[in-house]
Amino acid sequence: MSVPVEPSSVDPSRNGSVPATEPAGDTGILRPHAEDAFAAELAALAARDDRPRPARWRLSPWAVATYLLGGTLPDGTVITPKYVGPRRIVEVAVTTLATDRALLLLGVPGTAKTWVSEHLAAAVSGDSTLLVQGTAGTPEEAIRYGWNYARLLAHGPSRDALVPSPVMRAMAEGATARVEELTRIPADVQDSLITILSEKTLPIPELGEEVQAVRGFNLIATANDRDRGVNELSSALRRRFNTVVLPLPETPEAEVEIVSRRVGQIGRSLDLPAVPDGVDEIRRVVTVFRELRDGVTADGRTKLKSPSGTLSTAEAISVVTNGLALAAHFGDGVLRAGDVAAGLLGAVVRDPAADRVIWQEYLETVVRERDGWTDFYRACREVTA
Ligand SMILES: Nc1ncnc2c1ncn2[C@@H]1O[C@H](COP(=O)(O)OP(=O)(O)OP(=O)(O)O)[C@@H](O)[C@H]1O
Ligand SMILES: [Mg+2]
Repeated sequence: MSVPVEPSSVDPSRNGSVPATEPAGDTGILRPHAEDAFAAELAALAARDDRPRPARWRLSPWAVATYLLGGTLPDGTVITPKYVGPRRIVEVAVTTLATDRALLLLGVPGTAKTWVSEHLAAAVSGDSTLLVQGTAGTPEEAIRYGWNYARLLAHGPSRDALVPSPVMRAMAEGATARVEELTRIPADVQDSLITILSEKTLPIPELGEEVQAVRGFNLIATANDRDRGVNELSSALRRRFNTVVLPLPETPEAEVEIVSRRVGQIGRSLDLPAVPDGVDEIRRVVTVFRELRDGVTADGRTKLKSPSGTLSTAEAISVVTNGLALAAHFGDGVLRAGDVAAGLLGAVVRDPAADRVIWQEYLETVVRERDGWTDFYRACREVTA
Protein backbone atom coordinates (compact mmCIF):
# COMPACT_ATOMS: atom_id res chain seq x y z
CA MET A 1 0.00 0.00 0.00
CA SER A 2 1.06 3.54 -0.49
CA VAL A 3 2.00 5.84 2.32
CA PRO A 4 -0.43 8.75 2.59
CA VAL A 5 1.43 11.96 1.96
CA GLU A 6 0.61 14.76 4.34
CA PRO A 7 1.65 18.25 3.33
CA SER A 8 2.78 18.78 6.93
CA SER A 9 5.50 16.16 6.45
CA VAL A 10 7.45 18.58 4.27
CA ASP A 11 10.54 19.90 5.91
CA PRO A 12 9.96 23.66 5.97
CA SER A 13 13.68 24.26 6.23
CA ARG A 14 14.15 22.76 2.81
CA ASN A 15 15.28 25.45 0.46
CA GLY A 16 17.90 26.08 -2.16
CA SER A 17 18.25 23.65 -5.03
CA VAL A 18 17.66 20.52 -3.04
CA PRO A 19 16.40 17.65 -5.13
CA ALA A 20 13.55 16.07 -3.21
CA THR A 21 14.04 12.79 -4.94
CA GLU A 22 15.83 10.17 -2.95
CA PRO A 23 13.72 7.48 -1.34
CA ALA A 24 13.26 8.14 2.35
CA GLY A 25 15.71 5.81 4.09
CA ASP A 26 16.76 2.42 2.86
CA THR A 27 13.75 0.17 3.20
CA GLY A 28 15.48 -2.72 1.46
CA ILE A 29 12.69 -2.76 -1.11
CA LEU A 30 14.13 -3.46 -4.54
CA ARG A 31 11.71 -1.27 -6.41
CA PRO A 32 9.53 0.99 -4.28
CA HIS A 33 6.26 2.21 -5.78
CA ALA A 34 6.42 5.63 -7.38
CA GLU A 35 4.42 7.22 -4.54
CA ASP A 36 6.99 5.95 -2.04
CA ALA A 37 10.13 6.56 -4.09
CA PHE A 38 9.08 10.13 -4.81
CA ALA A 39 7.12 10.81 -1.61
CA ALA A 40 9.19 13.89 -0.84
CA GLU A 41 8.55 15.44 -4.23
CA LEU A 42 4.83 14.69 -4.06
CA ALA A 43 4.62 16.19 -0.58
CA ALA A 44 6.51 19.31 -1.65
CA LEU A 45 4.18 19.75 -4.59
CA ALA A 46 1.07 19.21 -2.46
CA ALA A 47 2.26 21.76 0.08
CA ARG A 48 2.75 24.46 -2.53
CA ASP A 49 -0.15 23.62 -4.80
CA ASP A 50 -2.89 26.22 -4.47
CA ARG A 51 -4.69 25.45 -7.72
CA PRO A 52 -8.09 23.75 -7.71
CA ARG A 53 -7.98 19.97 -7.33
CA PRO A 54 -10.62 17.69 -8.80
CA ALA A 55 -12.49 15.61 -6.20
CA ARG A 56 -10.15 13.25 -4.29
CA TRP A 57 -7.10 14.27 -6.28
CA ARG A 58 -3.96 14.68 -4.20
CA LEU A 59 -2.72 17.43 -6.52
CA SER A 60 -4.09 19.85 -9.08
CA PRO A 61 -3.72 18.87 -12.74
CA TRP A 62 -0.99 21.49 -13.05
CA ALA A 63 0.97 19.95 -10.17
CA VAL A 64 0.52 16.45 -11.60
CA ALA A 65 1.98 17.63 -14.92
CA THR A 66 4.87 19.30 -13.08
CA TYR A 67 5.51 16.07 -11.17
CA LEU A 68 5.78 14.18 -14.47
CA LEU A 69 7.72 16.74 -16.48
CA GLY A 70 9.86 18.18 -13.69
CA GLY A 71 10.44 21.76 -12.64
CA THR A 72 11.60 23.95 -9.79
CA LEU A 73 9.15 25.15 -7.15
CA PRO A 74 9.27 28.79 -6.02
CA ASP A 75 11.20 27.77 -2.89
CA GLY A 76 13.87 26.04 -4.94
CA THR A 77 12.70 22.44 -4.49
CA VAL A 78 13.65 20.52 -7.61
CA ILE A 79 11.08 18.15 -9.08
CA THR A 80 12.91 15.67 -11.31
CA PRO A 81 11.44 14.91 -14.72
CA LYS A 82 9.93 11.44 -14.85
CA TYR A 83 8.79 11.62 -18.44
CA VAL A 84 10.87 13.27 -21.14
CA GLY A 85 8.66 14.16 -24.05
CA PRO A 86 6.20 16.71 -25.39
CA ARG A 87 4.51 18.70 -22.59
CA ARG A 88 1.21 18.68 -24.45
CA ILE A 89 1.00 14.90 -24.28
CA VAL A 90 1.25 14.95 -20.52
CA GLU A 91 -1.25 17.80 -20.24
CA VAL A 92 -3.79 15.93 -22.37
CA ALA A 93 -3.26 12.73 -20.37
CA VAL A 94 -3.71 14.50 -17.04
CA THR A 95 -6.80 16.42 -18.12
CA THR A 96 -8.38 13.27 -19.47
CA LEU A 97 -8.22 11.80 -16.00
CA ALA A 98 -10.27 14.72 -14.70
CA THR A 99 -13.04 14.01 -17.21
CA ASP A 100 -15.46 11.11 -17.44
CA ARG A 101 -13.35 9.40 -20.08
CA ALA A 102 -10.68 6.88 -19.27
CA LEU A 103 -7.12 7.22 -20.57
CA LEU A 104 -5.51 4.82 -23.03
CA LEU A 105 -1.74 5.13 -23.41
CA LEU A 106 -0.69 3.65 -26.69
CA GLY A 107 2.70 3.24 -28.35
CA VAL A 108 5.44 0.90 -29.48
CA PRO A 109 7.22 -1.12 -26.76
CA GLY A 110 9.46 0.76 -24.39
CA THR A 111 7.92 4.21 -24.82
CA ALA A 112 7.22 4.57 -21.08
CA LYS A 113 3.51 3.72 -21.15
CA THR A 114 3.67 1.67 -17.95
CA TRP A 115 6.02 4.18 -16.37
CA VAL A 116 3.75 7.16 -17.13
CA SER A 117 0.69 5.24 -15.97
CA GLU A 118 2.33 4.44 -12.63
CA HIS A 119 3.45 8.02 -12.04
CA LEU A 120 0.07 9.46 -13.04
CA ALA A 121 -1.71 7.17 -10.58
CA ALA A 122 0.82 8.03 -7.87
CA ALA A 123 0.43 11.77 -8.37
CA VAL A 124 -3.35 11.83 -8.80
CA SER A 125 -4.42 9.28 -6.18
CA GLY A 126 -1.27 8.68 -4.12
CA ASP A 127 -1.60 5.00 -5.00
CA SER A 128 -0.26 3.28 -8.11
CA THR A 129 -0.96 -0.25 -6.91
CA LEU A 130 -4.57 -0.71 -8.04
CA LEU A 131 -3.30 -2.64 -11.02
CA VAL A 132 -4.65 -5.38 -13.29
CA GLN A 133 -2.04 -7.02 -15.49
CA GLY A 134 -3.65 -7.91 -18.79
CA THR A 135 -2.75 -11.25 -20.36
CA ALA A 136 -4.44 -13.64 -22.73
CA GLY A 137 -5.62 -15.49 -19.61
CA THR A 138 -6.96 -12.55 -17.58
CA PRO A 139 -10.34 -13.68 -16.20
CA GLU A 140 -13.35 -11.46 -15.65
CA GLU A 141 -12.81 -11.72 -11.88
CA ALA A 142 -9.58 -9.76 -12.24
CA ILE A 143 -11.59 -6.79 -13.48
CA ARG A 144 -14.85 -7.26 -11.54
CA TYR A 145 -14.61 -9.34 -8.36
CA GLY A 146 -13.99 -12.88 -7.21
CA TRP A 147 -14.96 -14.97 -4.21
CA ASN A 148 -13.14 -16.37 -1.23
CA TYR A 149 -14.45 -19.90 -1.67
CA ALA A 150 -13.95 -21.00 1.94
CA ARG A 151 -16.14 -18.14 3.14
CA LEU A 152 -18.57 -18.56 0.28
CA LEU A 153 -19.13 -22.23 1.15
CA ALA A 154 -19.33 -21.59 4.88
CA HIS A 155 -21.58 -18.53 4.86
CA GLY A 156 -23.00 -18.18 1.38
CA PRO A 157 -22.53 -15.12 -0.79
CA SER A 158 -21.92 -12.00 1.26
CA ARG A 159 -19.78 -8.90 1.13
CA ASP A 160 -17.38 -10.76 3.44
CA ALA A 161 -16.85 -13.53 0.93
CA LEU A 162 -16.37 -11.12 -1.96
CA VAL A 163 -12.85 -10.39 -3.17
CA PRO A 164 -12.87 -7.01 -4.88
CA SER A 165 -10.69 -6.45 -7.93
CA PRO A 166 -8.33 -3.45 -8.02
CA VAL A 167 -10.84 -1.76 -10.33
CA MET A 168 -13.66 -2.26 -7.83
CA ARG A 169 -11.52 -0.87 -5.03
CA ALA A 170 -10.62 2.17 -7.12
CA MET A 171 -14.33 2.76 -7.78
CA ALA A 172 -15.18 2.57 -4.10
CA GLU A 173 -12.25 4.77 -3.06
CA GLY A 174 -12.47 7.31 -5.87
CA ALA A 175 -8.96 6.42 -6.98
CA THR A 176 -7.10 5.64 -10.20
CA ALA A 177 -7.19 2.04 -11.45
CA ARG A 178 -4.62 0.76 -13.94
CA VAL A 179 -5.01 -1.91 -16.58
CA GLU A 180 -1.78 -3.01 -18.26
CA GLU A 181 -1.74 -4.41 -21.81
CA LEU A 182 -5.47 -3.97 -22.33
CA THR A 183 -5.42 -5.35 -25.88
CA ARG A 184 -4.02 -8.68 -24.73
CA ILE A 185 -7.12 -9.33 -22.61
CA PRO A 186 -9.75 -11.50 -24.36
CA ALA A 187 -12.53 -9.43 -25.92
CA ASP A 188 -15.36 -10.71 -23.70
CA VAL A 189 -13.35 -9.89 -20.56
CA GLN A 190 -12.45 -6.44 -21.92
CA ASP A 191 -16.14 -5.79 -22.40
CA SER A 192 -16.76 -6.01 -18.67
CA LEU A 193 -15.10 -2.59 -18.56
CA ILE A 194 -17.84 -1.03 -20.67
CA THR A 195 -20.46 -0.80 -17.89
CA ILE A 196 -17.80 0.31 -15.44
CA LEU A 197 -16.63 3.12 -17.69
CA SER A 198 -19.98 4.27 -19.04
CA GLU A 199 -22.40 3.65 -16.16
CA LYS A 200 -19.68 4.03 -13.49
CA THR A 201 -21.17 1.11 -11.65
CA LEU A 202 -20.28 -2.50 -11.04
CA PRO A 203 -23.31 -4.70 -10.39
CA ILE A 204 -22.99 -7.71 -8.04
CA PRO A 205 -26.00 -9.79 -9.08
CA GLU A 206 -25.23 -12.51 -6.50
CA LEU A 207 -25.90 -10.02 -3.72
CA GLY A 208 -28.47 -7.88 -5.49
CA GLU A 209 -26.12 -4.94 -4.97
CA GLU A 210 -23.82 -2.72 -6.90
CA VAL A 211 -20.68 -0.70 -6.29
CA GLN A 212 -21.05 2.81 -7.60
CA ALA A 213 -17.92 4.69 -8.45
CA VAL A 214 -17.33 7.73 -6.29
CA ARG A 215 -15.89 10.96 -7.69
CA GLY A 216 -12.20 10.74 -8.34
CA PHE A 217 -12.42 7.30 -9.92
CA ASN A 218 -10.84 6.87 -13.31
CA LEU A 219 -8.84 4.29 -15.20
CA ILE A 220 -5.57 4.29 -17.13
CA ALA A 221 -4.99 1.48 -19.62
CA THR A 222 -1.85 0.81 -21.61
CA ALA A 223 -1.59 -1.03 -24.91
CA ASN A 224 1.28 -1.94 -27.10
CA ASP A 225 0.63 -1.33 -30.77
CA ARG A 226 3.20 -3.90 -31.87
CA ASP A 227 1.51 -6.75 -30.02
CA ARG A 228 -2.00 -6.90 -31.22
CA GLY A 229 -3.41 -3.71 -32.60
CA VAL A 230 -5.73 -1.37 -30.81
CA ASN A 231 -8.17 -2.50 -33.48
CA GLU A 232 -8.71 -5.44 -31.24
CA LEU A 233 -10.54 -3.13 -28.87
CA SER A 234 -14.27 -3.19 -29.53
CA SER A 235 -15.48 0.14 -30.78
CA ALA A 236 -17.89 0.35 -27.84
CA LEU A 237 -14.95 0.17 -25.45
CA ARG A 238 -12.70 2.41 -27.52
CA ARG A 239 -15.25 5.21 -27.29
CA ARG A 240 -14.86 5.18 -23.52
CA PHE A 241 -11.19 6.09 -23.82
CA ASN A 242 -9.20 9.12 -24.84
CA THR A 243 -6.15 7.74 -26.61
CA VAL A 244 -2.75 9.34 -26.07
CA VAL A 245 0.09 8.01 -28.21
CA LEU A 246 3.51 8.08 -26.57
CA PRO A 247 6.18 8.65 -29.24
CA LEU A 248 9.76 7.46 -29.38
CA PRO A 249 12.16 10.20 -28.25
CA GLU A 250 12.34 12.81 -30.98
CA THR A 251 16.02 13.74 -30.78
CA PRO A 252 19.17 11.79 -29.91
CA GLU A 253 19.83 14.28 -27.08
CA ALA A 254 16.45 13.54 -25.49
CA GLU A 255 17.08 9.82 -25.72
CA VAL A 256 20.57 10.15 -24.21
CA GLU A 257 19.07 12.15 -21.37
CA ILE A 258 16.37 9.53 -20.70
CA VAL A 259 18.89 6.69 -20.73
CA SER A 260 21.42 8.50 -18.50
CA ARG A 261 18.78 9.51 -15.99
CA ARG A 262 17.18 6.09 -15.70
CA VAL A 263 20.49 4.25 -15.66
CA GLY A 264 21.63 6.51 -12.81
CA GLN A 265 18.47 5.76 -10.81
CA ILE A 266 18.58 2.02 -11.47
CA GLY A 267 22.31 1.90 -10.70
CA ARG A 268 21.71 3.57 -7.33
CA SER A 269 18.90 1.20 -6.43
CA LEU A 270 21.11 -1.78 -7.29
CA ASP A 271 24.01 -0.30 -5.35
CA LEU A 272 26.20 -0.29 -8.43
CA PRO A 273 29.25 1.87 -7.90
CA ALA A 274 28.80 5.19 -9.65
CA VAL A 275 30.52 5.14 -13.00
CA PRO A 276 31.40 8.62 -14.17
CA ASP A 277 32.02 9.65 -17.76
CA GLY A 278 29.69 7.02 -19.14
CA VAL A 279 27.91 9.53 -21.30
CA ASP A 280 30.08 8.99 -24.39
CA GLU A 281 29.27 5.31 -24.41
CA ILE A 282 25.58 6.02 -23.78
CA ARG A 283 25.63 8.37 -26.76
CA ARG A 284 27.08 5.62 -28.96
CA VAL A 285 24.53 3.04 -27.82
CA VAL A 286 21.71 5.50 -28.49
CA THR A 287 23.17 6.34 -31.91
CA VAL A 288 23.35 2.66 -32.89
CA PHE A 289 19.79 2.05 -31.67
CA ARG A 290 18.37 5.05 -33.49
CA GLU A 291 20.19 4.38 -36.76
CA LEU A 292 19.12 0.73 -36.87
CA ARG A 293 15.58 1.60 -35.81
CA ASP A 294 15.23 4.39 -38.40
CA GLY A 295 16.92 2.40 -41.17
CA VAL A 296 19.29 5.25 -42.00
CA THR A 297 22.50 6.70 -40.55
CA ALA A 298 22.32 9.87 -38.45
CA ASP A 299 23.73 11.97 -41.30
CA GLY A 300 21.00 10.63 -43.59
CA ARG A 301 23.57 9.36 -46.14
CA THR A 302 23.43 5.58 -45.81
CA LYS A 303 20.31 3.47 -45.88
CA LEU A 304 20.33 0.53 -43.44
CA LYS A 305 18.27 -2.55 -42.89
CA SER A 306 16.37 -2.64 -39.58
CA PRO A 307 16.64 -5.75 -37.40
CA SER A 308 13.54 -7.50 -36.07
CA GLY A 309 13.84 -6.30 -32.44
CA THR A 310 12.24 -3.05 -31.33
CA LEU A 311 15.46 -1.39 -30.12
CA SER A 312 13.48 0.82 -27.77
CA THR A 313 14.77 3.30 -25.25
CA ALA A 314 13.91 0.76 -22.57
CA GLU A 315 16.32 -1.72 -24.17
CA ALA A 316 19.04 0.92 -24.44
CA ILE A 317 18.58 1.45 -20.70
CA SER A 318 19.17 -2.23 -19.97
CA VAL A 319 22.18 -2.47 -22.29
CA VAL A 320 23.82 0.44 -20.48
CA THR A 321 22.84 -0.83 -17.01
CA ASN A 322 24.44 -4.19 -17.79
CA GLY A 323 27.48 -2.39 -19.12
CA LEU A 324 27.78 -0.38 -15.93
CA ALA A 325 27.65 -3.54 -13.84
CA LEU A 326 30.42 -5.05 -15.96
CA ALA A 327 32.53 -1.88 -15.71
CA ALA A 328 32.02 -1.69 -11.97
CA HIS A 329 32.72 -5.32 -11.13
CA PHE A 330 35.14 -6.45 -13.81
CA GLY A 331 36.41 -3.30 -15.50
CA ASP A 332 38.33 -0.29 -14.34
CA GLY A 333 35.25 1.56 -13.14
CA VAL A 334 34.79 3.52 -16.36
CA LEU A 335 32.11 2.50 -18.84
CA ARG A 336 33.89 1.41 -22.02
CA ALA A 337 32.90 0.04 -25.41
CA GLY A 338 33.74 -3.50 -24.31
CA ASP A 339 31.17 -3.26 -21.51
CA VAL A 340 28.24 -2.43 -23.75
CA ALA A 341 29.17 -4.50 -26.82
CA ALA A 342 27.77 -7.85 -25.65
CA GLY A 343 24.50 -6.31 -24.47
CA LEU A 344 24.19 -4.44 -27.72
CA LEU A 345 24.65 -7.60 -29.73
CA GLY A 346 21.95 -9.32 -27.68
CA ALA A 347 19.51 -6.45 -28.22
CA VAL A 348 20.10 -6.21 -31.96
CA VAL A 349 20.42 -9.88 -32.92
CA ARG A 350 17.10 -11.41 -31.95
CA ASP A 351 16.76 -13.58 -35.00
CA PRO A 352 20.11 -15.41 -35.20
CA ALA A 353 20.16 -15.59 -39.00
CA ALA A 354 18.71 -12.42 -40.53
CA ASP A 355 19.59 -10.00 -37.72
CA ARG A 356 23.19 -11.19 -37.55
CA VAL A 357 23.69 -10.35 -41.22
CA ILE A 358 22.15 -6.91 -40.71
CA TRP A 359 24.38 -6.30 -37.68
CA GLN A 360 27.57 -7.40 -39.45
CA GLU A 361 26.78 -5.22 -42.43
CA TYR A 362 26.18 -2.26 -40.14
CA LEU A 363 29.46 -2.89 -38.31
CA GLU A 364 31.50 -3.11 -41.51
CA THR A 365 29.91 -0.30 -43.49
CA VAL A 366 29.09 2.26 -40.79
CA VAL A 367 30.83 1.63 -37.47
CA ARG A 368 34.20 0.73 -38.94
CA GLU A 369 34.45 3.95 -40.95
CA ARG A 370 33.32 6.26 -38.20
CA ASP A 371 35.91 8.65 -36.70
CA GLY A 372 36.77 7.90 -33.10
CA TRP A 373 34.77 4.66 -33.05
CA THR A 374 37.71 2.24 -33.50
CA ASP A 375 37.51 0.90 -29.93
CA PHE A 376 33.79 0.45 -30.33
CA TYR A 377 34.19 -1.36 -33.64
CA ARG A 378 36.80 -3.71 -32.17
CA ALA A 379 34.72 -4.47 -29.09
CA CYS A 380 31.68 -5.26 -31.22
CA ARG A 381 33.71 -7.41 -33.61
CA GLU A 382 35.11 -9.35 -30.71
CA VAL A 383 31.71 -10.39 -29.38
CA THR A 384 30.16 -10.91 -32.82
CA ALA A 385 32.75 -13.25 -34.22
N1 LIG B 1 10.25 9.40 -22.90
C1 LIG B 1 10.67 8.79 -21.80
N2 LIG B 1 10.85 9.48 -20.66
C2 LIG B 1 11.28 8.88 -19.54
N3 LIG B 1 11.55 7.57 -19.43
C3 LIG B 1 11.41 6.82 -20.54
C4 LIG B 1 10.96 7.39 -21.78
N4 LIG B 1 10.92 6.40 -22.70
C5 LIG B 1 11.31 5.27 -22.08
N5 LIG B 1 11.58 5.50 -20.78
C6 LIG B 1 12.05 4.52 -19.81
O1 LIG B 1 11.94 3.25 -20.40
C7 LIG B 1 11.61 2.27 -19.43
C8 LIG B 1 10.55 1.33 -19.95
O2 LIG B 1 9.35 1.95 -20.04
P1 LIG B 1 7.98 1.14 -19.90
O3 LIG B 1 8.18 -0.20 -19.32
O4 LIG B 1 7.02 2.05 -19.24
O5 LIG B 1 7.61 0.97 -21.45
P2 LIG B 1 6.25 0.47 -22.06
O6 LIG B 1 5.88 1.50 -23.07
O7 LIG B 1 5.27 0.15 -21.01
O8 LIG B 1 6.73 -0.83 -22.83
P3 LIG B 1 5.92 -2.17 -23.15
O9 LIG B 1 5.08 -1.85 -24.35
O10 LIG B 1 7.02 -3.13 -23.48
O11 LIG B 1 5.13 -2.53 -21.95
C9 LIG B 1 11.24 3.00 -18.17
O12 LIG B 1 12.26 2.79 -17.24
C10 LIG B 1 11.20 4.46 -18.55
O13 LIG B 1 11.75 5.24 -17.56
MG1 LIG C 1 4.36 -1.62 -20.40
